[in-house]
Amino acid sequence: MEINFNCKVAMVIGGTRGIGKEAALSLAKSGAKVIITGRSQKNIDLVVAEAKELGLEISSYAFDIAEVDATRTVIDKVAEENGKLDILVANAGINPMYKRAENVTPEDWDTLMAVNLRGVFFAIQSAGKHMLAQGSGSIVSISSVTAVVGTPRGLPYVATKGGMDSMTRTLAVEWADRGVRVNAVAPGYIETDLTEGIRQNQSINEMMIKKMPLGRFGKSEEIASMILFLSSDASSYITGQTYIVDGGFSS
Ligand SMILES: NC(=O)c1ccc[n+]([C@@H]2O[C@H](COP(=O)([O-])OP(=O)(O)OC[C@H]3O[C@@H](n4cnc5c(N)ncnc54)[C@H](OP(=O)(O)O)[C@@H]3O)[C@@H](O)[C@H]2O)c1
Repeated sequence: MEINFNCKVAMVIGGTRGIGKEAALSLAKSGAKVIITGRSQKNIDLVVAEAKELGLEISSYAFDIAEVDATRTVIDKVAEENGKLDILVANAGINPMYKRAENVTPEDWDTLMAVNLRGVFFAIQSAGKHMLAQGSGSIVSISSVTAVVGTPRGLPYVATKGGMDSMTRTLAVEWADRGVRVNAVAPGYIETDLTEGIRQNQSINEMMIKKMPLGRFGKSEEIASMILFLSSDASSYITGQTYIVDGGFSS
């Protein structure tokens, strides 16, 4: 299936590394006007340069999604400068903890919530306001299979992703009658910086691969393809869904 975004304006929050970077490049290759964000200007510059080498132009803004005012300001600016905002990929996420539940602190909890759930919600709210006003738009968040499969030492990350899945369903029913679709992709274990610790530990790496029917970690491209599908008109009758892409891990 070939998807052509035909100059649609697509913003990828957390588009500088891993899944977000791959989604941004794929959207740009498919004809979208792409704006990426991330905290690090250095990471942004690397993606913009990589895109340029491929003959693609990608714009960018550096901000922390935990800062709601900064998020709102940038999203409003992107929508105003481009006259619209068609696609939001809410990809930014962190998982710096690997603790047993009994050791999770209130600070750990707040750190994860601030980025993965609170930050993502207010980014979606800001983009959603523009999409509702124009009567169209597609929002894709990045959840996780760990929201539906018990995951040792997974809190509070798994709670942010479970919250995201609920948020996706509710936003979808609230905004469907005004042309805005809201979906999510829930990856399994993908080869990115986020899973570096797991993949570098030989015994954990082997144990995880044994649980994956396809016998390997996924690649960012394999998540980006689902993001592109849900962003595009090819999924025009889909809203409120979270699609698991995990090599069979949760089967
Ligand atoms: N990799 C997996 O196996 C996996 C599995 C399930 C779900 N996911 C989800 O998929 C998404 C992407 O994961 P990934 O593996 O590609 O991670 P990654 O390689 O660590 O990339 C994370 C991206 O988010 C940005 N980001 C992080 N914190 C941010 C903040 N506070 N404000 C703005 N941007 C921020 C990063 O940019 P800067 O560092 O420049 O800020 C980067 O572009 C996450 O939501 C993650 O939870 C990943």
